[in-house]
Amino acid sequence: MEACQKGDAEAVSHLLRTGRGCSASQQDPHYRNGSSPLIEAARTGSLETCRILLEHGAPWNAIDKDGKCAGNYASDLGHQSLVNYLVDVAVTAELLLGASIRTEMSTTYTSKEATKPIVDIGTGSRCGGPVEHEPCTKSDFLSRDVCYVDGDKLLDGDGDAVMMEWERPLMRAHASVIMGGSGTSATGKVSVMNVGFGMGIIDSILQEEQFSPALHVIVEAHPGVYAQMIKDGWDKKPNVRIVYGKCRFSSFCVLFTNMPRYYYGCVSLLACFYFLSKIF
Ligand SMILES: C[S@@+](CC[C@H](N)C(=O)[O-])C[C@H]1O[C@@H](n2cnc3c(N)ncnc32)[C@H](O)[C@@H]1O
Repeated sequence: MEACQKGDAEAVSHLLRTGRGCSASQQDPHYRNGSSPLIEAARTGSLETCRILLEHGAPWNAIDKDGKCAGNYASDLGHQSLVNYLVDVAVTAELLLGASIRTEMSTTYTSKEATKPIVDIGTGSRCGGPVEHEPCTKSDFLSRDVCYVDGDKLLDGDGDAVMMEWERPLMRAHASVIMGGSGTSATGKVSVMNVGFGMGIIDSILQEEQFSPALHVIVEAHPGVYAQMIKDGWDKKPNVRIVYGKCRFSSFCVLFTNMPRYYYGCVSLLACFYFLSKIF
């Protein structure tokens, strides 16, 4: 951590190569507000140190207790070339991770369909071939079942992931960025609209005390997801208004969505771009 705080790329590289109990992804919640090596290096603006850490497996989106990641600090401190570099890393990572998860899900669920289906995937058929060759929209998404599995994923009618629990840190980072850290503006508490409830991860985070918007509108188009929202009591929350239907533009302080290709897959790419564009 000390070498990262100095932006000493050579020392960081040496320590990571020789072991000595150092890991690029170490993060102690009690140390410097839960900071990470990448955050420390990003504060110094040392692109080389960040590059070495990322090459050794440092997560680009690790956040500290203020919900800030390396990109936030690089941006706050005006390290623009580092910001640009982190944007590239983040987008690439999201693309690769999304593609690999989609491929894995496709293999898993397709092979099990012949024996015992893990989920009720309704009728409809999936496309053959690599995921990259699949059409980027699922026009029948809304008319087919979705399925919440084990509390950590939401699958569509093809067994493709709509949302997964691993995206929580990314959602937390989004929340922090779009709500400006505290959820207040010069005129008081902000209002926020999230388009697409999914697993309600971003919405649960937005409901936390540090944000707690004056008005929190959630637009959701899928009947199965809407039913889950009602089951979970989202319609009873005092500052929440649910709009059951397809998204229409409205005038809010903050609009959040991560339903890119959504009808269509699991990558939070639009959210990623949105997040990055808000930071940078
Ligand atoms: C990737 S999930 C969102 C996950 C969410 N951000 C979370 O934190 O759990 C996308 C959601 O958008 C919904 N959706 C897709 N198209 C929509 C539309 N046109 N209007 C409203 N909701 C839509 C889907 O039913 C799904 O619930």
